[in-house]
Amino acid sequence: MKRLKVMTVFGTRPEAIKMAPLALELSRRPELEAVCCVTAQHREMLDSVLDIFGLKPDYDLNVMEPRQTLSTIAAKCLNGMDGVLEQARPDLVLVHGDTSTTFAGALAAFYHKIPVGHVEAGLRTYDKWSPYPEEINRKLVGAIADLHFCPTVANRDNLARENITKGVFLTGNTVIDALQTTIVKDFAFRSDILNDLDYVNRQVILITCHRRENYGQPMVNIMTALRRVADAFPEAELVYPVHLSPVVQEAAHKYLDNHPRIHLTSPLDVREMHNLMARCHLVMTDSGGLQEEAPALGKPVLVLRKETERPEAVAAGTVRLAGVEEEVIFQMASRLLSDRAEYDKMAHAANPYGDGHACRRIADAIIWHFGRRETPPEEFGNIPI
Ligand code: UD1
Ligand code: UDP
Repeated sequence: MKRLKVMTVFGTRPEAIKMAPLALELSRRPELEAVCCVTAQHREMLDSVLDIFGLKPDYDLNVMEPRQTLSTIAAKCLNGMDGVLEQARPDLVLVHGDTSTTFAGALAAFYHKIPVGHVEAGLRTYDKWSPYPEEINRKLVGAIADLHFCPTVANRDNLARENITKGVFLTGNTVIDALQTTIVKDFAFRSDILNDLDYVNRQVILITCHRRENYGQPMVNIMTALRRVADAFPEAELVYPVHLSPVVQEAAHKYLDNHPRIHLTSPLDVREMHNLMARCHLVMTDSGGLQEEAPALGKPVLVLRKETERPEAVAAGTVRLAGVEEEVIFQMASRLLSDRAEYDKMAHAANPYGDGHACRRIADAIIWHFGRRETPPEEFGNIPI
């Protein structure tokens, strides 16, 4: 019997981290022919992930240019996908999450009447402007997709509220699959600063911040609060691998340069990032991925956003919303750095996002959907919030 051709499409760092283990799982299945298309909406940050997972894309649209508008990215991805789909003619296109690549990839497949599977489906804030433009991207992909791979029960419930109940699978998040391959005991970082930090006796705070809705005043508030934290807590060492977006680079260097205990670094590769997270004291971030990874490693997270589409770890007590106001961020961080009991309340491992078997479930679900397997996969057994 002819193998089913399944094409993974992704373009940014987080999509790559979460799709790479799936692409590798698909390529191990005898029923499937796995092909991989990257839009390269990100370049260096994408290539670093591809290298680490040993993944070689079959197609590369190479769309990245500095400071592109959202329309330009989407248009270039949509146009580029046309030729790729024409040539490859896959039986299924898999997209991930909520980026411009995700939306354009799903729309291009729909125009070619190719079924779409949405990995990390059903996340919602119900605020069209936050995260921007991701909330609308994922809703639009939800409308297009035929298969929806939901990490959690809450995500599945969100889709049910939109009357999406067919082709829905509860799988866990593939990021936990990725996390299980990267952390090692005696990890050596490429940078001396990270190797030399005293993770036991100092309070190492891992920071990331890049979201578009935080551009401008919210980012200024966040950076100012971070500097106050560094000034107020002599044991604190802030490590901030700065996203390559020029907007973020400018803000981070303007407000955080020239402090002996604030370490601005280049983006870390994913192995370094996960190993740093495993060793740090506290995470402060507006990233989606870090909100999922840190709880699995027992690290408290302060989310530098007004809302989150990942309420599970908030319910589990390991993540708190700190918002984007300077004083609130400073006070919440101060409390965790000065009150051990308060810190200990948050610092316990919780894994609402996955058990490391999401990729296997997604591959099984695809094979079952196309009638090449008798039973659907078992569901990821998370506890509803
Ligand atoms: C994108 C996604 C966002 C995701 C984030 C992950 C959209 C609309 N946004 O936002 O959902 O959370 O990726 O990081 O899809 N750059 C480089 N090299 C790189 C990567 C980026 O130089 O390897 C610079 C370029 O100047 C680029 C800019 O960063 O123009 C912004 O990249 P872009 O993909 O447009 O948006 P992100 O903010 O990264
Ligand atoms: N990450 C990384 N290096 C970094 C910053 C983040 O490898 O310097 C990883 C992180 O562990 C997570 C993912 O990238 O898996 C999150 O990506 P990002 O914050 O760019 O996007 P988001 O998750 O917010 O969409």
